Amino acid sequence: MPKVFSPGRINIIGEHTDYSYGYVMPMAINLGNYLEYTTYDKISVFSEAYNEKIELDFSMINKKQNKWIDYILGVYNALFELNLRPGGIKGKIYGNLPISSGLSSSASLELAILVALNYSYNLNLNKLQLALIGKKAENDFVGVPSGILDQFAVAFGKKSFAAFLDTETLSYEYIPFPKDASFIVYNTGVKRELAKTGYSERKKVVEDSLRILNRNSSKEITEEDLEKLNPLYRKRMGYIIRENNRVIYAKNALKENNLELLGKLLIESHNDIAKNYEVSSKELDFIVETSIRYGALGARLTGAGFGGSAIILVYKDKAESIAEAIHKEYTKAFEYKSFYNIVESSDGADIIEK
Ligand code: GLA
Repeated sequence: MPKVFSPGRINIIGEHTDYSYGYVMPMAINLGNYLEYTTYDKISVFSEAYNEKIELDFSMINKKQNKWIDYILGVYNALFELNLRPGGIKGKIYGNLPISSGLSSSASLELAILVALNYSYNLNLNKLQLALIGKKAENDFVGVPSGILDQFAVAFGKKSFAAFLDTETLSYEYIPFPKDASFIVYNTGVKRELAKTGYSERKKVVEDSLRILNRNSSKEITEEDLEKLNPLYRKRMGYIIRENNRVIYAKNALKENNLELLGKLLIESHNDIAKNYEVSSKELDFIVETSIRYGALGARLTGAGFGGSAIILVYKDKAESIAEAIHKEYTKAFEYKSFYNIVESSDGADIIEK
């Protein structure tokens, strides 16, 4: 029986820059979804996380269920629109990637299915096509107006590397991730309730600004351009142009194996996004401050924000003790069901057993 592993991702830096076609630098992680499956004449999937089996025949394919299966239906719809007609699938999804925690569990699920269909029905799609189809499923069927970051990260992951991406040209570069460093992913335990409206509001500001300034990408916006925007727009876009620059600096810091500098950039990124993009929370800020106090190299929120997770950059040999110290402080200060994982880089979504 074929088996797919599809990772989650952290975004090291370049947050909320993808929907203005700026830079991002994610890394796929060794927490993810497994899919064991056979081909079938319907769509029949059991999700271990939801302890639920859903079976639908093809006449139901475009009927949104408002459940996890929508990511799978979205993938089918996106493929059908491209005149690709894979058959059904019967399978089981399980794994260790926390849901709704800012680690792209939805992109991981979309890519798991896409990889399976691509393999078993010979669709001949490359990684970039898979990532774009996953994004289309998310945007058009599920209705989340996200950028390409998550699906790219999940499709293009490479063990021992971070991936730098220009989200406008879609050209990318793998950057070796130092062997002596790790990321702690600290989950705040806070449900990301404001995420949907907050995200759309930010996206509107960015799209308006690009239109007003007559630019295709945030990479082209200068400090002088910002003067033409109203104060709120200036504040938001100011963050984005500084963040784009930080992604480049961070990429260079990684290339030079300069973990201290990378850590500083993460902290700078967090403070800027908290103050000027306003997608952080007191819990995320607390984690970042506490991480620094306990000797982490750097820390920041990862993903859309509004709750979810923070990433904490540490030397590998200190990961466990720093994580424990943060966890102790956090659970003293807040009553949420929080937890952490010390993660490694991972390969992207792929067939791991034939
Ligand atoms: C979510 C979206 C991504 C990206 C991030 C913020 O994860 O799905 O496209 O916009 O938020 O960087």
